[in-house]
Amino acid sequence: MRYSFKKILKEILKYKKEFIIANIIAILAVLVSTPAPLLMPLLVDEVLLKKPGFLTEHIDKLIGHQEAYGYILIVLFMTLFLRTLFYGLTVLHDYLFSIISKNITYKIRKDMLSQISKISLNEYESIGSGTISSMFLIDVATIETFLGMSISKLIVSILTIIGVGIVLLLINWKLALFILLVNPFVVVLSKKFARKVSYYKKEENKTFESFTEALSETLELFRQIRASNQEERFIKRLFKEALEIKKAGIAFAYKSDVALRFSFLLFLGGFEIFRAASIFTVAYGDLTIGLMLAIFGYLWVMMSPVQEILNIQYSYHNAKRALDRINKLFDMEKEPSYPHLKNPFKDKKTNSVKIENAVFSYDNNVDILKNINLDIKEGNKVAIVGASGSGKTTLAQIMVGFYPLKKGELLIDEINVKEIGLDVLREHIYLVLQNPLLFNDTIRFNLTLGKPIEDEKILEALRLAQLGDMIESLKDGLDTKVGKNGMKLSGGQRQRISIARMIVQNPNVVILDESTSALDIHTEENLFEALKDFLKDKTTVIIAHRLSTIRQADYVYMLENGTISEEGTFEELIKKEGSFSNHIKGKKDARYH
Ligand SMILES: Nc1ncnc2c1ncn2[C@@H]1O[C@H](COP(=O)(O)OP(=O)(O)OP(=O)(O)O)[C@@H](O)[C@H]1O
Ligand SMILES: [Mg+2]
Repeated sequence: MRYSFKKILKEILKYKKEFIIANIIAILAVLVSTPAPLLMPLLVDEVLLKKPGFLTEHIDKLIGHQEAYGYILIVLFMTLFLRTLFYGLTVLHDYLFSIISKNITYKIRKDMLSQISKISLNEYESIGSGTISSMFLIDVATIETFLGMSISKLIVSILTIIGVGIVLLLINWKLALFILLVNPFVVVLSKKFARKVSYYKKEENKTFESFTEALSETLELFRQIRASNQEERFIKRLFKEALEIKKAGIAFAYKSDVALRFSFLLFLGGFEIFRAASIFTVAYGDLTIGLMLAIFGYLWVMMSPVQEILNIQYSYHNAKRALDRINKLFDMEKEPSYPHLKNPFKDKKTNSVKIENAVFSYDNNVDILKNINLDIKEGNKVAIVGASGSGKTTLAQIMVGFYPLKKGELLIDEINVKEIGLDVLREHIYLVLQNPLLFNDTIRFNLTLGKPIEDEKILEALRLAQLGDMIESLKDGLDTKVGKNGMKLSGGQRQRISIARMIVQNPNVVILDESTSALDIHTEENLFEALKDFLKDKTTVIIAHRLSTIRQADYVYMLENGTISEEGTFEELIKKEGSFSNHIKGKKDARYH
């Protein structure tokens, strides 16, 4: 899936029709533009110096003998006509190429997005969202610039140089050879500077990335920063990042300016040498003054394509680096893609969940889960308890396949998840996250995530989640916006919204990861009472600290440092002197009973 220039070229060739037409137009444009600089200077010889030749003889043949002004006007109109035609053709040419380049960058963006949708969570967590955003914003744009402008201009530039080269050879082959042979040196010399420029561009992009990362984090955590009274420090950090951008920018602008101007100087030097050589050829050879003036004109015509080719080099180097960065995204590990061989959820209300000898590590180094065995029977209510950091959330995330196991298996109704497919698994096993995230959108959207679901069902879910009164009190009802990350809601309301989201999905198996931790004991009781019917036939895993919540479970697993230290029914475990009863002891205050 990696992108290379070869692959991009293949993509370009998919737009055969546009590509062929654009190239034919490029050839026409060059054919039209090449004779233009020749016409007026020819009049110097044929009209001013009174040596009738090619132009005047042809005009005489076609429309009869003219006065000097007649020849001048006719040639002027011919030149203007050719130049206008050239303008029209290049506009059309650029338009066709922009269609191709926009289509290709659209495809790159699409491929990047679908890669993100498949990326493994672990990999995603290891790079910042700022880095990914700058790939989409800066890198794709760099590639787009290269494709849109450069490729189209490269063809016209090369053709122009060839066209002008032929005309120069026809005018005076010795002089032409001199010009054509010396000119490439200018290009090659300037090329050396292009490499340096792209290095500074890369440095500049790095500082941008780091600024974006720091900026978005500061903005996202603004409330936390203010609560810790640390605005000044964080803003200062951003000042520093902005300063880095400035420094890199200055280094880049100054060095690239030096390189660009130097290459221009080289060209102008070459230009003057060529002019001197032309005058020399008039003085000592057989070049006429008119043709010499034409060559002066052609030198200018050659100038822009040579500059264009130089710019393309810069653009190419930048695009190459942008491609390298984008490929980092494509190189990232993907979530395993399991085939849909069996579906244990089909026509069933609920399922059993089994974890066998599971070992898991986030970093492939420290094992966070060590040989875990869980056997959760169909329809059972199971509680997982344990100290903070013992691995409860990790275990819950393993059950929905967020991370693949290092060792061991996850089985639903005795069928390995590797035969079920992660998407099917997540459709039917729903994890209510410990820190649920809400969209800056309406309550309705936060429940449905855009799926078409009727209001009655949404309202029912909200009622079950103990948000019935709240929604009725809202002027805009389901259309109320919740603010960024649900900022306009209380912590407990946010938790209940995410429970309502689960109810709307109506999964076969429900995992609640401290999903009611922010609720007062009364609301929590009411919630579980209301959910009783909904959860009656569903296998439920509850991760909780509160005794009242754990108590309802049919079976309890005690997690300690990534291993199950005890398991059994609540009554069994509480009687034993062990890690569970010790764990519970700390909770024996009034609040938890
Ligand atoms: N995404 C992650 N990448 C790397 N390490 C992680 C990640 N998430 C958790 N950990 C580590 O795994 C261990 C277990 O974390 P986990 O979130 O599973 O604990 P927990 O039992 O849910 O704790 P709590 O009760 O505080 O929610 C911790 O030591 C934590 O540092
Ligand atoms: Mg947790």
